[in-house]
Amino acid sequence: THAIAIAIDGPAAAGKSTVSKIVAKKLSFIYIDTGAMYRALTYKALQEHIPFDDEKKLADLLAETSIELLQEKDQQHVLIDGNDVTHDIRSENVTNNVSYTAKHSSVRGEMVKRQQELAKRRGVVMDGRDIGTHVLPDAEVKIFLKASVKERAKRRYEENAEKGFSADFETLKQEIEERDRIDSKRDFAPLIKADDAIELDTTNLSIDEVAESILYEVEKIA
Ligand code: C5P
Repeated sequence: THAIAIAIDGPAAAGKSTVSKIVAKKLSFIYIDTGAMYRALTYKALQEHIPFDDEKKLADLLAETSIELLQEKDQQHVLIDGNDVTHDIRSENVTNNVSYTAKHSSVRGEMVKRQQELAKRRGVVMDGRDIGTHVLPDAEVKIFLKASVKERAKRRYEENAEKGFSADFETLKQEIEERDRIDSKRDFAPLIKADDAIELDTTNLSIDEVAESILYEVEKIA
């Protein structure tokens, strides 16, 4: 496969990152998790007690913050100013606040600039909410993954259980719904399927089936 860009968007916990990693590995492409960048900024804002409705302070904070996504074998590492925060950015507190950070246009503008820079060298799978619509509008393959909220909450619940912490199923479901609501309703680059994206409902599909479908779409244009 020649070096193309694959954009994968969709709501929270739809399996985007799991599937993107598989596809990237199969094609020897790089994988870029844009959600991790918004999470990283949110983590730092929490640490510095910056209120999430203060757009100016958040934008200033981002301007002075380096966010690196490192790929080491099968492991993705996220560094803020050189510190490994891979696990910290998955905390409840970050997850439940990240959508407020991601609402601001000046924050998004800078993030998109950095993401486009990262994707300059093609042979890239990038996942997020606005990749097909704003970050890589010229991506050769655009996928919009969806699944019922019940199924997504179930997957998240099982993922948590495997990691050894149990969260209440109903709470998880409500948190996912709330995050989707904020992401879909925001003024700038809301979560929406690009006109030319292929929609895949993964509710009844396995991870491998989803990855296969995406690879099939890639082959079609290769
Ligand atoms: O993908 P993940 O669930 O880690 O994304 C966390 C949050 O970051 C999303 O709920 C959304 O608010 C924000 N985000 C975004 N645009 C992207 C990727 C993530 O607004 N491209």
